[in-house]
Amino acid sequence: MFIDRMAIEGFRNFCMLEAAFARGINVITGGNAQGKTNLLEAIFYLSNAKSFRIRGDKDLVGFDCGFARIEGDVSSELRETNIEVKLYKDRRRQIFINGVKQSSAAEMPKRLGVVLFCPEDLEIIRDGAAARRRFMDLAISQLRHKYALALSEYNRLYEHKTRILKDWREKPSLLEILDDFSLKMAKISAELIYYRASWCERLGEEAAKIHSDISGVGEKLRLKYKTVSTVGDPSEKKPSELLPLLLRHQEEHRRAELDSGLCLSGAHKDDIEIYIDGSEARSFASQGQVRTAALSLKLAEREISRADRGEAPVLLLDDVLSELDARRQDFVLNKICGGQVFITCCEDKSAMQRMGDRLFFMKNGKLSF
Ligand SMILES: Nc1ncnc2c1ncn2[C@@H]1O[C@H](COP(=O)(O)OP(=O)(O)O)[C@@H](O)[C@H]1O
Ligand SMILES: [Mg+2]
Repeated sequence: MFIDRMAIEGFRNFCMLEAAFARGINVITGGNAQGKTNLLEAIFYLSNAKSFRIRGDKDLVGFDCGFARIEGDVSSELRETNIEVKLYKDRRRQIFINGVKQSSAAEMPKRLGVVLFCPEDLEIIRDGAAARRRFMDLAISQLRHKYALALSEYNRLYEHKTRILKDWREKPSLLEILDDFSLKMAKISAELIYYRASWCERLGEEAAKIHSDISGVGEKLRLKYKTVSTVGDPSEKKPSELLPLLLRHQEEHRRAELDSGLCLSGAHKDDIEIYIDGSEARSFASQGQVRTAALSLKLAEREISRADRGEAPVLLLDDVLSELDARRQDFVLNKICGGQVFITCCEDKSAMQRMGDRLFFMKNGKLSF
């Protein structure tokens, strides 16, 4: 998949930006706070219909602008697509595919696949479980619209159930609807866990190969998807088999949920456990090892996306290559050849500038080359 051209207006610090991109490596250099990450954010939005930095659209619109517009021409083996979004500070965004107004964002990740790798991802091994859930939720949502819908419904139910658990003492009638919420959450948890378990299994296979290659000494990376205790090993269990196990866990935690006011049972506490040569990486791995593992996870995400789509998604590397040593940089650059890549880096990283197929310079929201 390739983004051949983009036009951006009123988004972040871009007044009016138009550019044609290479179908290979696009390197964007420039000083600090000039708009390099903003450009990747605009590309990311065309696929995911959201930012990777903030929630909501309001702050994406330029300070002095009434609205923002991001538009791009995307080529894939199947078709050519023009994707356009208009963002407003005070009303709902509009999405157009080939000029046709869309009632939802469902088509966007199908037309444009994007995998982002930013410096925060290098912490993914040692971060809290929420970071790893975000990683898998975003990656699976890109590939499976049904998953994205289930996840957003789950989050809605979760917030509602949490409110019930907080307020039931003042309003005991709320308890009448509690079990209904719990049942709905268990049903959706079963779906989420089913998708996550199979995605994690694929991720584990790909990441292990990559990790072993980068480490050079055949280190063994192993991933284990961890969900509620009654489920045990979720792999190869269908949602219908997961549901009774989830309901049992809920039942066992019902009293504790009422006492604590917290939602203690469901897919919102899941995690990916990561082991290197048998030891849990979070606690025992060196700085170099956790970086290699993080890199392996992200490159594995790209491999899964590529296999699923039948072509490589666009890869966005935000300031991340300069964080890696020369050997890991070389590994990444060799591994990613074939697809379109956007790399941002500071002006002085001349090595990175040399390898680009097209070199851009970002200054104060203006792109030149
Ligand atoms: N909504 C906005 N309107 C105008 N400028 C913005 C907006 N949001 C962020 N910026 C500006 O964008 C710049 C940061 O751009 P960014 O792409 O993160 O920089 P970098 O080139 O370091 O990656 C800052 O100068 C910031 O003030
Ligand atoms: Mg940046």
